[in-house]
Amino acid sequence: MIGFDAVGGVFQLSPHDKKHRRKRQRAAFRHAVFTRGAVRLSGGRLARPRPGKDFAVNHRVIDLPRLPDELCGLTITHLSDLHVGELVTPAHLPYIVEAANALESDLIAVTGDFVDFSNVYLPAIIEAMKQLAAPLGVYFVLGNHDFLDNGQQVADAFLKAGLNLLLNNTVDLEHYEKRITVGGINWADKHTQIARDVRATVNQMPKADLRLLLAHHPHAFDAARRRGVDLTLSGHTHGGQVLLSNKRGKKGSIGLANFGFRYTRGLYQHGDSRLFVSSGVGSWFPLRIRCPAEITRLELQSRY
Ligand SMILES: [Fe+2]
Repeated sequence: MIGFDAVGGVFQLSPHDKKHRRKRQRAAFRHAVFTRGAVRLSGGRLARPRPGKDFAVNHRVIDLPRLPDELCGLTITHLSDLHVGELVTPAHLPYIVEAANALESDLIAVTGDFVDFSNVYLPAIIEAMKQLAAPLGVYFVLGNHDFLDNGQQVADAFLKAGLNLLLNNTVDLEHYEKRITVGGINWADKHTQIARDVRATVNQMPKADLRLLLAHHPHAFDAARRRGVDLTLSGHTHGGQVLLSNKRGKKGSIGLANFGFRYTRGLYQHGDSRLFVSSGVGSWFPLRIRCPAEITRLELQSRY
């Protein structure tokens, strides 16, 4: 590793502003009906961990045309959308951590939505994230749900714990004498802001042999590919959760995420750039049809 350049507090967030209050009110309604309501209706059954059944462990090979031979075979474990709260509870976390670590990847990336609705479980989340381990490090970005309660508090907890939370900044790594740059953008929902954040982050990437970007919102890929990012990892869509058709493992599935998202699930390519969208390891409502939760081990290769 060459060095880690942590930059905290690069965003301004007021939990008291009007827009935030409206978002939180809408989320409170969803939470009461679809999360807490569903868990209570099930007598708590939906909130109990089911080891080996709560999520799939998937393996994907991603071909990156620009990848040097020395980095072929590099592996990344990708998790997204844990949504720790009343449905995915702190009791689920040891199983998630154990499954991620058991994959023994070179690097772990976690692309946001740690919190579901309330920061009450934040200490348990931080403890669990500290247990993730990989030789090239573990890197995090925040998602929209991380801001529902108090995003600044979430960011501060990650940084205080020494976790590599990326907030429009980058980390340079060295692997077999090749340079890898991992960048991560802060959560934004406006496409213009996403593009600005990607630009600011990619501008910090030196001439790397592999440029990796973590972004909760998959639409970051549009700006990332234009700026030569090799691989973007995202979540946010939960793969659609409810699919009407499923060409298993392919992006051709039609589901809820097709309303509003260009990239919903799995692997996308444009020129030499690739995007992988995780279906998420958790969710905020307890329904998945033809779209299991997942932890994914990505193996990077070059077929050229
Ligand atoms: Fe999410």
